[in-house]
Amino acid sequence: MAEGRERDAGLSRRAFLKGAGSVAAGGALIQEVAAEAASPSRTIDGATTIEFTLNGAKTEVEVEPRTTLLSALRSHLAIPHTAAKEVCDQGSCGACTVLLDDEPVCACMTLAVLVHGRAVRTVEGLAVNGELTPVQRAIAAEDGTMCGFCTPGFVMSMTACVERNPAASAQELREACRGNLCRCGTYPHLFRAAERVSRELTEEIR
Ligand code: FES
Ligand code: FES
Repeated sequence: MAEGRERDAGLSRRAFLKGAGSVAAGGALIQEVAAEAASPSRTIDGATTIEFTLNGAKTEVEVEPRTTLLSALRSHLAIPHTAAKEVCDQGSCGACTVLLDDEPVCACMTLAVLVHGRAVRTVEGLAVNGELTPVQRAIAAEDGTMCGFCTPGFVMSMTACVERNPAASAQELREACRGNLCRCGTYPHLFRAAERVSRELTEEIR
């Protein structure tokens, strides 16, 4: 999962801001970094509106070139999506993990303009008609949360893992969460949740 996050980072926020800073000094010209980086001649000058799919729904939001996806989700949408948490804000804890085109990414390290035309999924979009997913049920059943700040990140990391491989082993689920930190130390519970998810989904497949 961390690989997905690293892969997605293509242009990291740090690299982008560094570059943006240098061009800003030269006249506030910031090269657009839309998902496909299709047209190097296009620029973003101040706020711009991006369109993307959020939990299956077409969504528009106005952001600045420096706005992170995490900030856009939590603070810029008409209906804020606050499941992804801001904890470290530097890509080291995984509390802000969301799925971008089904790959886990740290929303705090992803520029909002990069998701234009793409699909973002958050914890808010997982349950259907109030029915929790197997991952959510397992974490709840194993009491895998204390303060809850890390929980959405673990949920999304495990979700990506089982969507990629419904027969994922408990070990694979644990490895999928290697970019997620829990300061409350609920790891034994989360690991039991991983075992439960693996067991239940494997039984379903049989
Ligand atoms: S808040 Fe994004 S990785 Fe910690
Ligand atoms: S439950 Fe508190 S950080 Fe994980």
